[in-house]
Amino acid sequence: MSKNFDVVVIGGGPGGYIAAIRAAQLGFNTACIDEWKNEKGGPAPGGTCTNVGCIPSKALLQSSEHYEHASHGFAEHGIEVKGLGLNLEKMLGRKNTVVKQNNDGILYLFKKNKVTFFHGRGSFTKGDANGYEIKVAGAAEESITAKHVIIATGSNARALPGVPFDEQLILSNTGALAITEVPKKLGVIGAGVIGLEMGSVWRRLGAEVTVLEALPAFLGAVDEQIAKEAQKLLTKQGLNVSLGVKIGEIKAGKKSVTVEYTDAKGDAQKGEFDKLIVSIGRTPNTIGLNAEGVGLKLDERGFIAVDGDCKTNLPNVWAVGDVVRGPMLAHKAEEEGVAVAERIAGQHGHVNFNTIPWVIYTSPEIAWVGKTEQQLKADGVQYKAGTFPFLANGRARALGDTSGMVKFLADAKTDEILGVHIVGPMASELISEAVVAMEFRASSEDIARICHAHPSLSEATKEAALAVDKRSLNF
Ligand code: FAD
Ligand code: NAI
Repeated sequence: MSKNFDVVVIGGGPGGYIAAIRAAQLGFNTACIDEWKNEKGGPAPGGTCTNVGCIPSKALLQSSEHYEHASHGFAEHGIEVKGLGLNLEKMLGRKNTVVKQNNDGILYLFKKNKVTFFHGRGSFTKGDANGYEIKVAGAAEESITAKHVIIATGSNARALPGVPFDEQLILSNTGALAITEVPKKLGVIGAGVIGLEMGSVWRRLGAEVTVLEALPAFLGAVDEQIAKEAQKLLTKQGLNVSLGVKIGEIKAGKKSVTVEYTDAKGDAQKGEFDKLIVSIGRTPNTIGLNAEGVGLKLDERGFIAVDGDCKTNLPNVWAVGDVVRGPMLAHKAEEEGVAVAERIAGQHGHVNFNTIPWVIYTSPEIAWVGKTEQQLKADGVQYKAGTFPFLANGRARALGDTSGMVKFLADAKTDEILGVHIVGPMASELISEAVVAMEFRASSEDIARICHAHPSLSEATKEAALAVDKRSLNF
């Protein structure tokens, strides 16, 4: 096996494995090192996303949504379910199978693209502009060299100060995806993306869920109108969200956790939970890289410092994904991985940060791209807005899911689309049309004039675009 590579990627999550595949496609002799282990100690490439993030969370969101439909959603369709039961062990088993299929898929892709895979921890031993030496500590220890290094070491869950994760009672995303008995009372600290997604999973399966959020506004980064609608819908489903809280002492007993906090009015409160998920953001992971040893610069928040092209301060060393600035999203990591591989090949890799979509996979889903109305106001941009409710969409009625809306924001003069915000069924799929439109700098009139299939949820997108010019046809 060759030990000298053109490109070595450290980390096999969506940033790293995609960078490795693209580099190999471009003709580089490429290796990827990843240390994630499956339950048997074998390799499990795919990073946080595949193992304890995007994929298992979406598997459980899907299963729990089926369960909720069977519990009380099917009745309106005239489908009567008797003797409904929950086999949580099987549900978790299915999730694990989905994860394994993805791990195996990546190993297959490495083979197909002739990427050499090393299972173990990669760390710099020495190097300069002429090349780097990297130690791989796995079942055996080996040393490899690289002309270019791409660091894609991802992120870890942030713990509350003095409250480490034990993954039994106090859970990070890892434990939150592997609870073996539905808790009666589940506490969640942080009403962000993980809090709302995992809170939804366990609420659907029967837990009484209390979400405690420090900020006074619900989903502060989301367009206010959409966030308000989402808050209303999620609260109606039974997710108890308390905003503006200040978390005090957290005590873990043998079987439960007590959380003391002050509510928005300043009153002291106490919650006792069977499990507590702490989802208050994530921190970049540079542990074990020996960044200091080779003089790799980190920024003040611990991210690897990079320029707009993902170049670090070291020659021929690049960094992508969660370990660098920008949104912590799998598709952002992938785009950066591809762009860096192409830059190494002398091409003009490009990532457009203005058109990175966000999706929160609650039910209904929340998805957006571009600017929010509050951002446009703050920036003094003159804009026009158009909204269309799913209540007026035939396909949504047929589906029995009419909650939410599509909202367009367009420049008042040029009509260029500046932002699209959706809360509603299949928002994760619908947002792609808006991303494409914005990437091509389309106007709302462009979308309004495109023929959309009937009956489809995407007609709500067209109608919201028409509403920008106050001429929606079905509302
Ligand atoms: P990671 O996926 O974290 O991969 C880094 C890899 O590097 C890991 O395998 C790690 O073991 C390995 N590694 C680290 N250091 C070393 C070393 N020294 N040597 C060898 N290997 C090393 N994003 C979305 O876009 N959509 C979603 O639906 C979504 N859902 C999520 C749900 C949850 C619960 C969580 C926690 C995250 C979710 N995310 C989602 C975020 C997404 O998982 C991350 O943005 C993404 O995984 C970042 O990719 P990455 O390649 O930068 O890092
Ligand atoms: P987050 O940043 O989305 O949300 C954290 C929330 O915790 C914020 O609302 C914050 O105000 C709150 N918070 C922080 N400190 C607190 C405290 N002491 N007390 C109470 N509340 C506090 O982070 P989260 O949910 O941990 O997810 C991490 C990242 O993972 C996300 O930002 C996202 O990038 C990624 N992710 C993406 C998903 C998707 O794309 N669907 C799904 C899950 C995660």
